[in-house]
Amino acid sequence: MTALAAVPVTALYASDVRIGYGAKAVVEDITLAIDKQEIVCLLGGSGCGKSTLLRGLAGLSGLQHGSVSFLGEPLLAPHPRAALVFQQPSLLPWLDVTGNVGFGLDFARQPALERSARAARVAAAIDAVGLSTHAKAFPAQLSGGQAQRVALARALARQPELLFADEPFSALDAITRAEMQALLVELVHRWHTAVLLVTHDIDEAILVADRIVLMAGQPGRLVRTWHVDIPRPRHAYAEQVIALRLEIVGALRTGAPL
Ligand SMILES: Nc1ncnc2c1ncn2[C@@H]1O[C@H](COP(=O)(O)OP(=O)(O)O)[C@@H](O)[C@H]1O
Ligand SMILES: [Mg+2]
Repeated sequence: MTALAAVPVTALYASDVRIGYGAKAVVEDITLAIDKQEIVCLLGGSGCGKSTLLRGLAGLSGLQHGSVSFLGEPLLAPHPRAALVFQQPSLLPWLDVTGNVGFGLDFARQPALERSARAARVAAAIDAVGLSTHAKAFPAQLSGGQAQRVALARALARQPELLFADEPFSALDAITRAEMQALLVELVHRWHTAVLLVTHDIDEAILVADRIVLMAGQPGRLVRTWHVDIPRPRHAYAEQVIALRLEIVGALRTGAPL
């Protein structure tokens, strides 16, 4: 019998992280592991340090204390197997959808791809977000929801192990937001991608997350965790969704000053 080699299950591990500006700590005591293919929602009120933490965990800013490892290696700079999506899609107006999605593959740290493999990856990502018929459209010709689909395709084209998403749907109307939440879950399941989704929206966290981590306080700390095992699609399990919502609202009222 041959023993199977252990496959590392952790995508990201943050140990006792503190991040701030100057000497001031904005978040501290942050210890968090994100498994491969796991969707973790970091939930917290405005200003509690969610974006600061996300940037630090993604290697975009330095830590005051602690360490972050990604796929078992210390993370000191943004990693080619991680991708980011923000509230604003940040598309380049002079590139069409295909150009914008391909743009994410051209960074120096990305492994070089053959021209045909690159084109296939870009086309697959555009197709996955439902924009094949808009592949030649320019950003000015897209709705807000379509532009955010392009941003998602640009991130997924890199085939990331982990997607960092900072309030990616906050600027969208409620109907488009619901569509995008469902699309995100479908795509990361299909792409086998882990997600750290930052949100201030309790319903978004419940609909999307495998695990919700609540952040509160000043400096911000991780104060509660919920494993969400409600079957998907979760709209079909309204009672369980409402029960969890009440529990989270209760925790916000009593335990966690926001
Ligand atoms: N570049 C910066 N310089 C100084 N303080 C900052 C900077 N960015 C954010 N902050 C402060 O850090 C705190 C947390 O901000 P942020 O991480 O953006 O919170 P959230 O994403 O949860 O709304 C806020 O008090 C904010 O004013
Ligand atoms: Mg923020």
